[in-house]
Parts: sequence; structure tokens; C-alpha cells
Amino acid sequence: MRLSKYSSTFSRIASSAGAVALLSLLSGCLIDFGGPQSTLDPAGPVARRQIALFYVTCWVCLFIFVVVGSVLAYAMFKFRAKDAADEKKIGPDHAHGNPMVEISLIAASVFALVIIAVPTLREIYYSFEVPLESKADSYEVTATGYQWWFKFDYPAETAQTLDPTGKTVNAAFSVANELVIPAGRPVHINLRTVDVIHSFWIPKLAGKVDMMPNRANHLWVEADKPGYFWGQCAEFCGESHAVMRFRVIALGPREFNDWVNSQMLPARKVAALADGAPAGAAHFADYRTFTRNEAGYTTKYDENPLDAWRAQQKAPASGEDPALIDKGRKLFASKTCSSCHTIRGEGYIGVVGPELTHVGSRSTIAAGLLENNRDELHRWIHAPNEVKPGNTMWMKGYVANEIKLTPEDEDALVNYLSSLK
Ligand code: CUA
Repeated sequence: MRLSKYSSTFSRIASSAGAVALLSLLSGCLIDFGGPQSTLDPAGPVARRQIALFYVTCWVCLFIFVVVGSVLAYAMFKFRAKDAADEKKIGPDHAHGNPMVEISLIAASVFALVIIAVPTLREIYYSFEVPLESKADSYEVTATGYQWWFKFDYPAETAQTLDPTGKTVNAAFSVANELVIPAGRPVHINLRTVDVIHSFWIPKLAGKVDMMPNRANHLWVEADKPGYFWGQCAEFCGESHAVMRFRVIALGPREFNDWVNSQMLPARKVAALADGAPAGAAHFADYRTFTRNEAGYTTKYDENPLDAWRAQQKAPASGEDPALIDKGRKLFASKTCSSCHTIRGEGYIGVVGPELTHVGSRSTIAAGLLENNRDELHRWIHAPNEVKPGNTMWMKGYVANEIKLTPEDEDALVNYLSSLK
């Protein structure tokens, strides 16, 4: 084969590869880097230091690419066949290596590695633990991975509180799939798992760290200002790994304090309506049906997710049906939901599934997959296996306990769970 043929094939490949690279660069400029799971749009000090490190590596690699690519291009043109006699030769004359060239190449490689290694080691130390000077101000939470959802505990909040009847009750609470943190403060997150290896990742706040069985990992994050962030399990952990998501809500100091106090309260009870109010049966809802893989959220959280989350915290001013809600409350126990879920103030103390004391105030359900509204709640209760294949509520609840729900039961449960603000 002729060398010139090689070089023309080579340059064709090189030019098309160049075109692809240029296209992706151009589209990169057009693509919105601020998507909800973008690591290129950091919102806190840890993520910012990590993206800076990414760019160091990126520039060093780009420099090496340009140097090696230029030498390769030069060699291709310099040594291409010039006449018929040249074409018979297999390549340039063989020569022994030049010691100076070889030593300089080794030195350059070591230098490139050092440029990457120094900031890498520095950032590993930085992201490992809250810096000493801000340690006193840091807040602690514990995140636990389950197949396939996250539980968040607040070990700092263990006070006792009075329930509405004046009885002293334990106010320790946990939240599923929505980690609420104070903004502008370092947050130390203990990482645990009850089953397999998961990986905890909030792309805009920090890199991922694994949740390992029998190993106490941790990481720390800080949000610059109040905001609503997306999180994702980043380690394959079984059938529904891809839909094991969560949200992080960062709040200012006063709002965070109010939120903690609201979580400490036992479950909300909807008071009976005044005489003449409509009875339960009249409220039977006509829920929409979903196709199997239909996306579970609307555009409601696109514009201003934090305000949409705040709106979700409030109990509706009207439209609740106490009789129907009470029916749902009783069904929750009779259909054995209460053996897996905790609802404080009702005596339900199950720990297999998420605590639901304030489930109505969360912005998402089913591990950050579905927006928390009546239709999606109904979709989840009606056929959880279609939303999150293989999940425990379906396999060990619905199937094992032969739970059957009539449309009226589902409606009552949706109304009850939505009322738990
Ligand atoms: Cu948990 Cu993937």
C-alpha cells in the first residue's frame, strides 16, 4: 500500500473528526449548561472548586492533544511519498532513538501529571471534610440509601414537642427524597445504606460519594444561596437505579428554622366542616390515566422551583373533605400501609418505607420521580410497579399482602396523603 493513500485516508478521518469536534463545540455553546443536573453550573464552594479542577485537567489534556496532533500532522506531510521510488518504501528510514528527545518527553509527561496532581490532591482534602474554620457553623444530616429512595435524618433536631392535645411527644423526624438544608452554611452529610451500594450525588453542589454497606462515608456541601437542586443515585443499584432521585432545598436561616419546626409537628388533622358542607361521596375524583413511561412532572417547577416548593408547604384554604380524608386515614391502617410507614401522631411506626407525616408538603414522590399532585399520587398508589419496577411497596406490600384497592379506596388515600402538609 502506498503511504500517500494512507495519508489521504488519514487526513479524511482527521478532517471529519475535526468537523465533529467543531460541531459539538458549537452545539455546546447553544446547549443550556444550566440544566438541573449540570455540573458545569456550580452553586456552592465545593462544586466550584471541583469544576475549577476539571478545567485544569481539561486544559492540560487539550494542550497535549494539540502538541501531539501537530507533530502527527507534520510527520504525515513531511514523510509522505514524493515519487514512484518513494512509494515502494514502507516508511521513513529506521533510526535509533534520540536520548535527548526521549528524556524531554518523559520530563514533559511527568510535568503534566504534576500540574494535574497538585490541585487534585488539594481538592481531595478540601472536599473531604468541612474546613476547620467553618466547622463550628456546620450542620449535620444523615442520608441513607434504600432500593430505591433516600431517607434524610436530622440528628441535631431531637427535641421533644407538644402535640395538639398538649401531650409531650418525641419530635425526631425523617424526610424521604427531599433534603432541606440551611443555605450559606456547610452541611456535613453522613452517608449510609441499608442494602446495596448507592452513590449520593447533587451535581450542582458536590461530586458523588458512594454509600457503602458497613462503611461510614460522608461528604459536605454548601449552597451559596436559597435554591432547589436535583440529586441522583449515581451507582447502579438494581432495577430502578435510574429513577432513584431526590431534591435538595436550601433555605435561609429563618425559613429553615420554620421548616424544622413544622416537620417536628405530628401529622396534620383536617377539622370537620361546618354544617351544610358537602359530604365525602360527592367528591369522588376523576383521575387521569398515564401511559407506562410517561414523564412524571409538569413545567410547574421549571420557572421558579423554590417558590413552587414553598407553595406546596401550605395547606389548601378550601376544597378538603374531612370525611373522605378520615376514610383514607383508616384505610391506611386496614390496608397494612402502616406496617411500613411512619405517620407521627397516628401511631403508625413502620420503618421499611418513607416516613409520611408531612408527605403532602413534598414537591415530589416516588424518589423524586413524580411531581406530588393528586393525579401522580393516584398513579403511584394505583400501580407503583409501572412507575418504579421492582419496588418494595409493590413486591412486599401489594403482592405479598394481596392488597386490593377499589377506585373509592384510592381516592380516599389520595385525599388523606395530600392532606398531610
Ligand atoms: Cu441507588 Cu443507584
